[in-house]
Amino acid sequence: QKIFLADYTPPAYLIESVELTFKLAPTTTRVMSKIRFTPNPNAASKEFFLHGEQLNLISASIDGSTVTPEPVEGGLKCDVPNAPFTWEAEVEINPEANTALEGLYMSGGMYCTQCEAEGFRRITYYPDRPDVMAPFKVRIEGNDPVLLSNGNPVASGEGWAEWHDPWPKPAYLFALVAGDLIARDDSFTTMSGKEVALKLWVRPGDEGKTAFGMQALKDSMKWDEEVYGREYDLDIFQIVAVSDFNMGAMENKGLNIFNTSAVLASPETSTDANFERIEAIIAHEYFHNWTGNRITCRDWFQLSLKEGLTVFRDQQFSGDIRSEAVCRINDVIALRGRQFREDNGPLAHQVQPDSFVEINNFYTATIYEKGAELIRMMKTLVGHDAYYKALDLYFSRHDGDAATIEDWVRVFEESTGRDLTQFRRWYKQAGTPRLKVDDDFKDGTYTLRFKQETPPTPEQDEKLPQHIPIAVGLLNPNGDEVLPTQILEMTDAEQSFAFEGHSAKPTPSILRHFSAPVILERESSAEERAFLLAHDTDPFNKWEAGRALAKDVLIAMITGEDAPTAAYLDAVAAMLRDDNLDPAFRALALHLPAQDDIAQTLADGSVTPDPLAIYNAHQTLRQQMAEHLQDLLPRLSAEMDVSEPFEPNAEQAGKRALGLELLKVTTRLDSGAAAQALYDRADNMTLRMGALGCLLEARKGDAALADFRTRFEGDALVMDKWFAMQVAHAAPEQAADMAERLTNDSDFNWKNPNRFRAVFGALMMNQAGFHEATGKGYALFADWLIKLDPVNAQITARMSTGFETWKRWDADRQAMMKTQLERIAATRDLSSDTQEMVGRILNG
Ligand code: ARG
Ligand code: ZN
Repeated sequence: QKIFLADYTPPAYLIESVELTFKLAPTTTRVMSKIRFTPNPNAASKEFFLHGEQLNLISASIDGSTVTPEPVEGGLKCDVPNAPFTWEAEVEINPEANTALEGLYMSGGMYCTQCEAEGFRRITYYPDRPDVMAPFKVRIEGNDPVLLSNGNPVASGEGWAEWHDPWPKPAYLFALVAGDLIARDDSFTTMSGKEVALKLWVRPGDEGKTAFGMQALKDSMKWDEEVYGREYDLDIFQIVAVSDFNMGAMENKGLNIFNTSAVLASPETSTDANFERIEAIIAHEYFHNWTGNRITCRDWFQLSLKEGLTVFRDQQFSGDIRSEAVCRINDVIALRGRQFREDNGPLAHQVQPDSFVEINNFYTATIYEKGAELIRMMKTLVGHDAYYKALDLYFSRHDGDAATIEDWVRVFEESTGRDLTQFRRWYKQAGTPRLKVDDDFKDGTYTLRFKQETPPTPEQDEKLPQHIPIAVGLLNPNGDEVLPTQILEMTDAEQSFAFEGHSAKPTPSILRHFSAPVILERESSAEERAFLLAHDTDPFNKWEAGRALAKDVLIAMITGEDAPTAAYLDAVAAMLRDDNLDPAFRALALHLPAQDDIAQTLADGSVTPDPLAIYNAHQTLRQQMAEHLQDLLPRLSAEMDVSEPFEPNAEQAGKRALGLELLKVTTRLDSGAAAQALYDRADNMTLRMGALGCLLEARKGDAALADFRTRFEGDALVMDKWFAMQVAHAAPEQAADMAERLTNDSDFNWKNPNRFRAVFGALMMNQAGFHEATGKGYALFADWLIKLDPVNAQITARMSTGFETWKRWDADRQAMMKTQLERIAATRDLSSDTQEMVGRILNG
C-alpha cells in the first residue's frame, strides 16, 4: 500500500503523557500502557486509530471503563469521548519469536528494541507516527540484572526499574534493554557545568572493547558544544551493544542501541577502518540528540531532515578530528559507490520522496549521503558564519517540533536573506546532474562554459536546472595557483564564467572539494591530469586527477584504445616519492578505482561493461604498477612501519594504509612472501587483515586463514571478517562456490544480519564473482534472499539491491538477473518490503 506525502494530515489526538509497564518473559511479555490523549484542535478528523501489529490484546479501557476496540488493518479503532481521556491497554507479545529484529526482540538472551521507523506498533497499540510526541514513564519488571529505558533513572529494586524521559518524543525513539550486561562508566561535564553519567553496556567478555567508543562519545559531546553550541539534556547517556541488529545503530533518546560492529573495538580485533567507522557512528547517533530527537521529523518523507543533517555533522566531526582532506575523499568514494549507483539506476528517488510503500526501504544513500551533500552545498553557498547563524535559528525556532524539510530551508532563507527556491529542486529531483565543461582562452581572458543536464529517473522524465555551487581555482603553466578557490553559482542550463588578466592559458581545477554531487564530464589529457595531480593545491582535486587518470587507463585497456599507462605510472611514482604528502593521501592515490566505478562509467558512456574485462584490467594495471614501482617499494614500505604501540589515530592509520597498498603491489612480485611475513608478525587487526587479503589474492592464504580462525573462533565480529574476506578475495569463477561453501560452515548463522551480510554483502561487492558468466552467483543469492525474507524482510529488501544494476550488463546477464528477480517476486507471501524493492528494480 502506497503512502503519499501529499496526503499528510495532522494527528487526530495528541498525547500528554505515556506510562508503560513491561513484565518481561521471552515468549509472553506483557505490556501495560496508560496514555493520556487529548483531541488535536488542529485536526479535522476525530477518528481514534492506534497502530498495532502482531499484538495480542488482553484488555483495554477508556477512563477506567472496559472497551472493545474494533480491529482494523494495521491496528484498531475505538469510540472515544470528545474530550481528554485516558486509554489503558494490556497486550502480550513474543520477543523470542521476533526474528525481524523490529519492535521488542531477543539477541543472545538479552531483550532489546528497534522502533525506527515503525517498530513501536509491535510493542503496544499507539499512534506510531513521529508527529505525536510525549514524555514517557517506563517500569520494567524482569529477572535480568540490568533493566534500561530512555531518560533518567527514577527508582529500582530487585527485579524492577523505573525510568522517566521528560523530553517529549515520538515512539520511534523509545528503547528498552534488559540483560546480563556490564557497563564501562565515565562522565562528562557539559558546558554549563552539568555532570552527565556515561555508560557503555556490553555483554560480559566484551569489556575490553569499550574504551575507544567511550572516548569517541566524549569527543562528540565536546565537539557538538564547541561547534554547534549544543549541550546534552539528561543526567545520563547510555549506549548498548547488541549482536543482532539490522542497521549500524539507533539514536533512541538517552539510550542509543548499537550493532556490536559499530561500537566494539580493540587493536587486536578491529581495523583502522573499523575504528574510524565506529567513531563516526557514535558521533552520528549522539548528534541526533539535537538533529533528530529535540527536533524530529513531522513524517517519514522528512527523513533526510534529520539524517542528511546528522550525516553532514558527523562528516564535519570526523574531518575536524582526523584529516579533513582524507575524510572528504573517503566520503566522496562512498557517495559515488553507493549513492551515484542508486541515483543512476532503477531505485533512484528524491531526497524527499513523494511516496513509498515501506519506509524501511528509504534508509538509503540518497536520503543520508546525498542529503548531507545538500546541506554541505547550502553551507558553501551562504558561507561559514551565515550557516551557523541559520543553525542557531533552526534550533531555537524548532526545538520540540516535528519539523519538515521546508521548515529547514525557510530558516536558511530567513536568516540569510537568500532565495532558495531553485535550490529546493535538489530535494525534489532525483538523479545525478551531469556537468559538462569546455573552455576557451582569448586576449587574456579565460572562459569556462558549463552545461548541466540531469538524466531521467523513474517517474521523473523532465528535469530543471539545479543551483550548483562550483568551486574553481586556476593554475598557471608553472603549476602556481593564479586564482584561489572561488565559488561559481550555476543556475542556468548553460552558463559561462570569464576570468580576465591571464598571460597564458591557465589549467582549471574544477569542482574542488567536490563542491556539488554531480558527475563532471570534461575532456582532459593525461598530461593535464598528471599536472593537476602534481600541482593542485586542493587535496580533493589532486586526488581526483590521479583517480581520473587511473580510470582513463583502465577504460582504455578495456575498450582497446591506447592507454596512457606510462603517464599514469610516472605520475603515481612521483606522487609516492613526495614525502611532504600525507601517507594516507598517498594510499588513497595509489588505490585503484573500484570495479563498480569503472562499470558505472562505462555504462554511463553507453558501453556495456564486461565484469571480467574490468577485473582483468585491474589485475593487469596492478602488475604493471608493481614492475614500475619496484625500486621504490623497499624504502617506502620500510618508512611506513609504525614502531610505536598501536593507536587508532589518523597518523598511524595513514602509514598502515600506505604500507598495505604497497604490500598489494609487492605481492605481485614476490607471490606473497612479504605478506606472509607481515601476517606472522602482525600484532593488530589492520595489518593482519591487510596481509591476509594479499595472501588470498595470491591464492596463498590457506595457512593464514586456518590460523586466523583458530585465533578468533569465539569472536563473532572477527569471524565476520573471516567469512567476508574469503568471498571478497575469491577469484571470479570461485566466488559463488566459496559463498555457498561458507553457508554450510558450522559458524554460518544466517539469521544474524552481520553474518549474513559478511557472506552475501561480500559476494555483492565482488563484482566479477557475483556477475560470473554462468549466473550461479545470481541464483545462489536469490535462493538466500528467498530464504531470509520470512525471517527478516528488512535485510532481505536491502540486500536485494545487489540486483539493482541489472540493466547495466549484457543481454545474457540481464536475462539471468531478471529471471532471479522474477523468481523472488513470485515467491508466495513475499514481504511487502521485498516486493517493493524487487518491483522497483524490475520496473524502474
Ligand atoms: N536512525 C538510525 C540512524 O541513522 C537508523 C535507523 C534505521 N532504521 C530502519 N528501520 N531502517 O542512525
Ligand atoms: Zn541517523
